[in-house]
Amino acid sequence: MKTIFYSVHNFEIKYLTLWCEKYGIKATFIEAHLTKDTLKLSGQHDSISCWASDDLSAEILKELSNLGVKFISLRSAGFSHLDVNVAKQLGLMVARVPAYSPQAIAEHTLGLLMSLNRNLPRAFQRVKDFNFTLDGLEGITLYGKCVGIIGVGKIGEAFAKIMYGMGCKLYLCDLKKDQKLIDNLDAEYVDLKSLLEKSDVISLHCPLTEKTKYILNEKTLAYLKKDAFLLNTGRGGLIDTQALIGKLKKGEIRGVGLDVYEHEESVFAHDHSLKGISDEKLLRLMSFPNVLITSHQAFFTKEALESISKISCENITLFYQGKNIPQENIVV
Ligand code: NAI
Repeated sequence: MKTIFYSVHNFEIKYLTLWCEKYGIKATFIEAHLTKDTLKLSGQHDSISCWASDDLSAEILKELSNLGVKFISLRSAGFSHLDVNVAKQLGLMVARVPAYSPQAIAEHTLGLLMSLNRNLPRAFQRVKDFNFTLDGLEGITLYGKCVGIIGVGKIGEAFAKIMYGMGCKLYLCDLKKDQKLIDNLDAEYVDLKSLLEKSDVISLHCPLTEKTKYILNEKTLAYLKKDAFLLNTGRGGLIDTQALIGKLKKGEIRGVGLDVYEHEESVFAHDHSLKGISDEKLLRLMSFPNVLITSHQAFFTKEALESISKISCENITLFYQGKNIPQENIVV
Protein backbone atom coordinates (compact mmCIF):
# COMPACT_ATOMS: atom_id res chain seq x y z
CA MET A 1 0.00 0.00 0.00
CA LYS A 2 2.49 2.62 -1.23
CA THR A 3 1.03 6.10 -1.14
CA ILE A 4 2.59 9.48 -1.70
CA PHE A 5 1.11 12.30 0.38
CA TYR A 6 1.40 15.76 -1.20
CA SER A 7 1.26 19.11 0.62
CA VAL A 8 1.90 17.54 4.01
CA HIS A 9 1.94 20.19 6.71
CA ASN A 10 3.93 19.86 9.92
CA PHE A 11 0.71 19.92 11.90
CA GLU A 12 -0.58 16.80 10.10
CA ILE A 13 2.47 14.57 10.42
CA LYS A 14 1.77 13.06 13.84
CA TYR A 15 -1.83 12.18 12.89
CA LEU A 16 -0.93 10.82 9.44
CA THR A 17 1.97 8.80 10.84
CA LEU A 18 -0.32 7.24 13.43
CA TRP A 19 -2.99 6.17 10.94
CA CYS A 20 -0.54 5.07 8.22
CA GLU A 21 1.14 2.82 10.79
CA LYS A 22 -2.19 1.43 12.01
CA TYR A 23 -3.32 0.59 8.48
CA GLY A 24 0.10 -0.53 7.20
CA ILE A 25 0.32 2.17 4.53
CA LYS A 26 3.85 2.69 3.19
CA ALA A 27 3.71 6.46 3.12
CA THR A 28 5.98 9.07 1.58
CA PHE A 29 5.23 12.52 2.96
CA ILE A 30 6.26 15.53 0.92
CA GLU A 31 5.73 19.18 1.67
CA ALA A 32 5.48 20.24 -1.98
CA HIS A 33 2.11 20.75 -3.64
CA LEU A 34 1.06 18.51 -6.50
CA THR A 35 1.98 20.43 -9.66
CA LYS A 36 3.30 19.71 -13.16
CA ASP A 37 6.79 19.69 -11.64
CA THR A 38 6.10 17.38 -8.70
CA LEU A 39 3.66 14.91 -10.22
CA LYS A 40 6.51 12.67 -11.43
CA LEU A 41 7.12 11.71 -7.80
CA SER A 42 3.84 9.76 -8.06
CA GLY A 43 5.45 7.17 -10.36
CA GLN A 44 5.31 3.63 -8.93
CA HIS A 45 2.45 4.63 -6.63
CA ASP A 46 -1.07 3.36 -7.24
CA SER A 47 -2.48 5.98 -4.93
CA ILE A 48 -1.77 9.53 -3.91
CA SER A 49 -3.14 11.71 -1.14
CA CYS A 50 -3.89 15.39 -1.72
CA TRP A 51 -4.72 18.56 0.21
CA ALA A 52 -7.17 21.21 -1.01
CA SER A 53 -4.26 23.30 -2.34
CA ASP A 54 -3.13 20.59 -4.77
CA ASP A 55 -3.72 20.96 -8.49
CA LEU A 56 -6.00 18.22 -9.77
CA SER A 57 -6.82 19.85 -13.09
CA ALA A 58 -7.28 17.89 -16.34
CA GLU A 59 -3.65 18.10 -17.46
CA ILE A 60 -2.29 16.85 -14.14
CA LEU A 61 -4.87 14.06 -13.90
CA LYS A 62 -3.90 12.78 -17.37
CA GLU A 63 -0.22 12.70 -16.41
CA LEU A 64 -1.02 10.94 -13.14
CA SER A 65 -3.06 8.33 -14.96
CA ASN A 66 -0.19 7.78 -17.43
CA LEU A 67 2.11 7.20 -14.46
CA GLY A 68 -0.20 4.45 -13.20
CA VAL A 69 -2.02 6.28 -10.40
CA LYS A 70 -5.45 4.74 -9.88
CA PHE A 71 -6.70 6.23 -6.64
CA ILE A 72 -6.67 9.73 -5.17
CA SER A 73 -7.48 10.18 -1.50
CA LEU A 74 -8.44 13.77 -0.75
CA ARG A 75 -7.68 15.08 2.71
CA SER A 76 -10.56 17.55 2.36
CA ALA A 77 -14.34 17.68 2.09
CA GLY A 78 -14.48 20.12 -0.81
CA PHE A 79 -13.24 19.03 -4.25
CA SER A 80 -13.44 22.22 -6.32
CA HIS A 81 -9.70 21.71 -7.08
CA LEU A 82 -10.52 18.46 -8.94
CA ASP A 83 -11.68 18.15 -12.55
CA VAL A 84 -14.39 15.59 -11.81
CA ASN A 85 -15.31 14.92 -15.45
CA VAL A 86 -11.74 14.19 -16.50
CA ALA A 87 -11.15 11.98 -13.45
CA LYS A 88 -14.27 10.04 -14.48
CA GLN A 89 -13.15 9.72 -18.12
CA LEU A 90 -9.73 8.45 -17.03
CA GLY A 91 -11.27 5.87 -14.70
CA LEU A 92 -9.55 7.36 -11.67
CA MET A 93 -11.22 6.75 -8.34
CA VAL A 94 -11.33 9.72 -5.96
CA ALA A 95 -12.48 9.66 -2.33
CA ARG A 96 -12.76 12.50 0.18
CA VAL A 97 -13.41 13.08 3.85
CA PRO A 98 -17.01 14.31 3.68
CA ALA A 99 -17.35 15.47 7.28
CA TYR A 100 -14.51 15.73 9.73
CA SER A 101 -15.91 18.26 12.13
CA PRO A 102 -18.64 20.52 10.80
CA GLN A 103 -18.84 22.08 14.26
CA ALA A 104 -15.18 23.18 14.02
CA ILE A 105 -15.95 25.27 10.93
CA ALA A 106 -19.21 26.58 12.39
CA GLU A 107 -17.45 27.60 15.61
CA HIS A 108 -14.76 29.45 13.66
CA THR A 109 -17.48 31.26 11.71
CA LEU A 110 -18.94 32.39 15.03
CA GLY A 111 -15.43 33.45 16.07
CA LEU A 112 -15.13 35.67 12.99
CA LEU A 113 -18.53 37.19 13.68
CA MET A 114 -17.85 37.89 17.35
CA SER A 115 -14.39 39.30 16.61
CA LEU A 116 -15.76 41.64 13.97
CA ASN A 117 -18.86 42.67 15.84
CA ARG A 118 -17.17 43.38 19.17
CA ASN A 119 -13.93 44.62 17.58
CA LEU A 120 -11.86 42.13 19.56
CA PRO A 121 -8.60 42.37 17.52
CA ARG A 122 -8.64 46.18 17.94
CA ALA A 123 -9.59 45.93 21.63
CA PHE A 124 -6.75 43.45 22.24
CA GLN A 125 -4.24 45.75 20.54
CA ARG A 126 -5.49 48.81 22.42
CA VAL A 127 -5.17 47.21 25.83
CA LYS A 128 -1.68 45.99 24.88
CA ASP A 129 -0.88 49.67 24.21
CA PHE A 130 -2.28 50.64 27.64
CA ASN A 131 -5.16 52.38 25.87
CA PHE A 132 -8.28 51.50 27.83
CA THR A 133 -10.77 53.71 25.94
CA LEU A 134 -13.90 52.31 24.29
CA ASP A 135 -14.56 54.73 21.43
CA GLY A 136 -14.94 52.87 18.14
CA LEU A 137 -15.42 49.45 19.75
CA GLU A 138 -19.24 49.49 19.84
CA GLY A 139 -20.93 46.34 18.53
CA ILE A 140 -24.52 45.17 18.18
CA THR A 141 -26.41 42.68 20.35
CA LEU A 142 -26.88 39.62 18.15
CA TYR A 143 -29.89 38.34 20.13
CA GLY A 144 -33.00 38.88 18.02
CA LYS A 145 -31.08 39.65 14.82
CA CYS A 146 -31.62 37.84 11.50
CA VAL A 147 -28.99 35.41 10.25
CA GLY A 148 -29.03 34.20 6.65
CA ILE A 149 -27.27 30.95 5.80
CA ILE A 150 -26.54 30.05 2.17
CA GLY A 151 -25.96 26.29 1.89
CA VAL A 152 -27.43 24.41 4.82
CA GLY A 153 -25.61 21.10 4.74
CA LYS A 154 -23.51 19.76 7.60
CA ILE A 155 -21.64 23.00 8.34
CA GLY A 156 -24.53 25.35 7.60
CA GLU A 157 -26.75 23.32 9.93
CA ALA A 158 -24.14 23.40 12.72
CA PHE A 159 -23.89 27.20 12.32
CA ALA A 160 -27.69 27.52 12.25
CA LYS A 161 -27.93 25.66 15.57
CA ILE A 162 -25.33 27.96 17.18
CA MET A 163 -27.10 31.11 15.99
CA TYR A 164 -30.51 29.76 17.01
CA GLY A 165 -29.03 29.16 20.45
CA MET A 166 -28.03 32.83 20.53
CA GLY A 167 -31.63 33.87 19.93
CA CYS A 168 -31.34 34.78 16.24
CA LYS A 169 -34.02 34.41 13.58
CA LEU A 170 -32.80 32.12 10.77
CA TYR A 171 -33.28 32.53 7.02
CA LEU A 172 -32.00 29.61 4.98
CA CYS A 173 -31.26 29.20 1.28
CA ASP A 174 -30.50 25.77 -0.18
CA LEU A 175 -31.44 23.61 -3.15
CA LYS A 176 -33.46 21.42 -0.79
CA LYS A 177 -35.52 22.02 2.34
CA ASP A 178 -34.91 20.22 5.61
CA GLN A 179 -38.20 20.09 7.52
CA LYS A 180 -36.49 19.40 10.84
CA LEU A 181 -34.68 22.76 10.65
CA ILE A 182 -38.01 24.49 10.04
CA ASP A 183 -39.62 22.64 12.97
CA ASN A 184 -36.75 22.68 15.48
CA LEU A 185 -35.05 25.99 14.75
CA ASP A 186 -38.08 27.99 13.63
CA ALA A 187 -36.11 28.60 10.43
CA GLU A 188 -37.56 29.93 7.20
CA TYR A 189 -36.39 28.93 3.72
CA VAL A 190 -36.30 31.91 1.36
CA ASP A 191 -34.74 32.69 -2.01
CA LEU A 192 -31.28 34.22 -2.23
CA LYS A 193 -32.54 37.79 -2.82
CA SER A 194 -34.88 37.75 0.20
CA LEU A 195 -32.17 36.22 2.39
CA LEU A 196 -29.70 38.95 1.44
CA GLU A 197 -32.29 41.70 1.95
CA LYS A 198 -33.53 40.47 5.33
CA SER A 199 -30.36 39.32 7.10
CA ASP A 200 -28.13 41.21 9.52
CA VAL A 201 -25.54 38.44 9.24
CA ILE A 202 -24.95 36.39 6.07
CA SER A 203 -22.84 33.27 6.10
CA LEU A 204 -21.76 31.19 3.10
CA HIS A 205 -21.65 27.40 3.50
CA CYS A 206 -22.41 26.04 0.03
CA PRO A 207 -19.78 24.28 -2.10
CA LEU A 208 -18.02 26.08 -4.94
CA THR A 209 -19.50 24.82 -8.20
CA GLU A 210 -20.13 26.32 -11.63
CA LYS A 211 -23.52 27.43 -10.30
CA THR A 212 -22.28 28.98 -7.05
CA LYS A 213 -19.15 30.69 -8.46
CA TYR A 214 -19.56 34.41 -7.61
CA ILE A 215 -22.95 33.75 -6.03
CA LEU A 216 -22.19 37.06 -4.35
CA ASN A 217 -21.40 39.49 -7.14
CA GLU A 218 -22.05 43.15 -7.86
CA LYS A 219 -25.76 42.51 -8.43
CA THR A 220 -26.45 40.25 -5.45
CA LEU A 221 -24.20 42.19 -3.06
CA ALA A 222 -26.39 45.22 -3.78
CA TYR A 223 -29.28 43.47 -1.97
CA LEU A 224 -27.42 43.45 1.37
CA LYS A 225 -28.45 45.75 4.21
CA LYS A 226 -25.88 48.55 4.56
CA ASP A 227 -25.03 47.42 8.10
CA ALA A 228 -24.88 43.67 7.46
CA PHE A 229 -22.00 41.35 8.34
CA LEU A 230 -20.79 38.96 5.63
CA LEU A 231 -18.97 35.75 6.55
CA ASN A 232 -17.33 33.29 4.17
CA THR A 233 -15.81 30.07 5.45
CA GLY A 234 -16.97 28.18 2.33
CA ARG A 235 -14.71 28.87 -0.66
CA GLY A 236 -13.19 32.12 -1.89
CA GLY A 237 -14.72 31.81 -5.37
CA LEU A 238 -18.23 32.20 -3.92
CA ILE A 239 -17.58 35.95 -3.75
CA ASP A 240 -16.49 38.26 -6.56
CA THR A 241 -13.70 39.94 -4.59
CA GLN A 242 -13.57 42.99 -6.85
CA ALA A 243 -17.29 43.61 -6.32
CA LEU A 244 -16.86 43.18 -2.56
CA ILE A 245 -13.99 45.70 -2.57
CA GLY A 246 -16.29 48.14 -4.39
CA LYS A 247 -18.90 47.72 -1.68
CA LEU A 248 -16.37 48.14 1.11
CA LYS A 249 -15.00 51.30 -0.53
CA LYS A 250 -18.50 52.80 -0.50
CA GLY A 251 -18.88 51.88 3.18
CA GLU A 252 -21.92 49.76 2.35
CA ILE A 253 -21.19 46.82 4.63
CA ARG A 254 -20.62 46.64 8.38
CA GLY A 255 -17.99 43.95 8.47
CA VAL A 256 -16.56 41.08 6.43
CA GLY A 257 -15.07 37.90 7.91
CA LEU A 258 -13.22 35.68 5.45
CA ASP A 259 -11.51 32.37 6.08
CA VAL A 260 -11.15 31.78 2.34
CA TYR A 261 -10.12 33.94 -0.61
CA GLU A 262 -10.56 33.28 -4.31
CA HIS A 263 -6.81 33.30 -5.09
CA GLU A 264 -5.65 31.91 -1.77
CA GLU A 265 -3.54 29.05 -3.20
CA SER A 266 -0.37 31.09 -3.69
CA VAL A 267 -0.65 33.00 -0.41
CA PHE A 268 -2.37 31.08 2.36
CA ALA A 269 -0.51 28.49 4.42
CA HIS A 270 2.86 30.13 3.66
CA ASP A 271 4.96 32.58 5.65
CA HIS A 272 5.34 35.79 3.63
CA SER A 273 6.37 37.91 6.61
CA LEU A 274 9.83 38.71 5.25
CA LYS A 275 8.96 39.54 1.64
CA GLY A 276 5.31 40.61 1.82
CA ILE A 277 2.68 39.69 -0.77
CA SER A 278 1.89 41.04 -4.23
CA ASP A 279 -1.77 39.99 -4.60
CA GLU A 280 -3.37 43.40 -5.13
CA LYS A 281 -6.92 42.31 -4.32
CA LEU A 282 -5.92 40.64 -1.09
CA LEU A 283 -3.82 43.65 -0.10
CA ARG A 284 -6.80 45.93 -0.75
CA LEU A 285 -9.10 43.70 1.30
CA MET A 286 -6.59 43.68 4.15
CA SER A 287 -6.47 47.47 4.13
CA PHE A 288 -10.08 47.83 5.30
CA PRO A 289 -10.45 48.13 9.09
CA ASN A 290 -13.73 46.17 9.01
CA VAL A 291 -12.35 43.12 7.18
CA LEU A 292 -11.04 40.20 9.19
CA ILE A 293 -9.17 37.48 7.32
CA THR A 294 -7.96 34.13 8.58
CA SER A 295 -5.87 31.77 6.51
CA HIS A 296 -8.29 28.89 5.78
CA GLN A 297 -8.12 27.70 9.37
CA ALA A 298 -11.80 27.15 10.16
CA PHE A 299 -11.30 23.37 10.15
CA PHE A 300 -8.17 23.57 12.27
CA THR A 301 -8.93 21.68 15.47
CA LYS A 302 -7.32 18.59 16.98
CA GLU A 303 -10.51 16.60 16.44
CA ALA A 304 -10.78 17.60 12.78
CA LEU A 305 -7.12 16.77 12.06
CA GLU A 306 -7.51 13.35 13.68
CA SER A 307 -10.61 12.70 11.64
CA ILE A 308 -9.08 13.86 8.32
CA SER A 309 -6.05 11.58 8.78
CA LYS A 310 -8.12 8.61 9.93
CA ILE A 311 -10.76 8.73 7.20
CA SER A 312 -8.35 9.52 4.34
CA CYS A 313 -6.14 6.56 5.41
CA GLU A 314 -9.22 4.34 5.76
CA ASN A 315 -10.20 5.26 2.18
CA ILE A 316 -6.73 4.25 0.93
CA THR A 317 -6.89 0.94 2.84
CA LEU A 318 -10.35 0.08 1.54
CA PHE A 319 -9.20 0.83 -2.00
CA TYR A 320 -6.19 -1.50 -1.73
CA GLN A 321 -8.26 -4.21 -0.08
CA GLY A 322 -10.83 -3.96 -2.87
CA LYS A 323 -13.55 -3.25 -0.31
CA ASN A 324 -16.39 -0.76 -0.63
CA ILE A 325 -15.56 2.80 0.32
CA PRO A 326 -18.60 4.44 2.01
CA GLN A 327 -20.75 6.01 -0.69
CA GLU A 328 -20.66 9.51 0.86
CA ASN A 329 -16.83 9.46 0.68
CA ILE A 330 -16.72 8.72 -3.05
CA VAL A 331 -16.31 11.69 -5.39
CA VAL A 332 -15.70 9.68 -8.58
P1 NAI B 1 -22.55 19.76 2.53
O1 NAI B 1 -22.47 19.06 1.21
O2 NAI B 1 -22.98 19.01 3.73
O3 NAI B 1 -23.54 21.03 2.37
C1 NAI B 1 -23.51 21.91 1.30
C2 NAI B 1 -24.94 22.43 1.12
O4 NAI B 1 -24.90 23.46 0.12
C3 NAI B 1 -25.92 21.36 0.65
O5 NAI B 1 -27.05 21.34 1.49
C4 NAI B 1 -26.26 21.79 -0.77
O6 NAI B 1 -27.58 21.45 -1.15
C5 NAI B 1 -26.09 23.31 -0.67
N1 NAI B 1 -25.97 23.96 -1.96
C6 NAI B 1 -25.35 23.51 -3.08
N2 NAI B 1 -25.51 24.41 -4.07
C7 NAI B 1 -26.22 25.44 -3.56
C8 NAI B 1 -26.72 26.66 -4.10
N3 NAI B 1 -26.52 26.99 -5.39
N4 NAI B 1 -27.41 27.48 -3.28
C9 NAI B 1 -27.64 27.14 -1.99
N5 NAI B 1 -27.21 25.99 -1.44
C10 NAI B 1 -26.52 25.16 -2.21
O7 NAI B 1 -21.14 20.43 2.73
P2 NAI B 1 -20.48 20.91 4.11
O8 NAI B 1 -19.73 19.79 4.71
O9 NAI B 1 -21.48 21.63 4.91
O10 NAI B 1 -19.37 21.94 3.55
C11 NAI B 1 -19.74 23.13 2.85
C12 NAI B 1 -18.49 23.77 2.26
O11 NAI B 1 -17.66 24.27 3.31
C13 NAI B 1 -17.57 22.80 1.49
O12 NAI B 1 -17.99 22.63 0.16
C14 NAI B 1 -16.25 23.52 1.55
O13 NAI B 1 -16.12 24.35 0.41
C15 NAI B 1 -16.34 24.38 2.81
N6 NAI B 1 -15.40 23.96 3.84
C16 NAI B 1 -14.55 24.90 4.37
C17 NAI B 1 -13.64 24.54 5.35
C18 NAI B 1 -12.72 25.56 5.98
O14 NAI B 1 -11.82 25.18 6.73
N7 NAI B 1 -12.90 26.84 5.73
C19 NAI B 1 -13.52 23.15 5.81
C20 NAI B 1 -14.50 22.25 5.22
C21 NAI B 1 -15.38 22.66 4.27
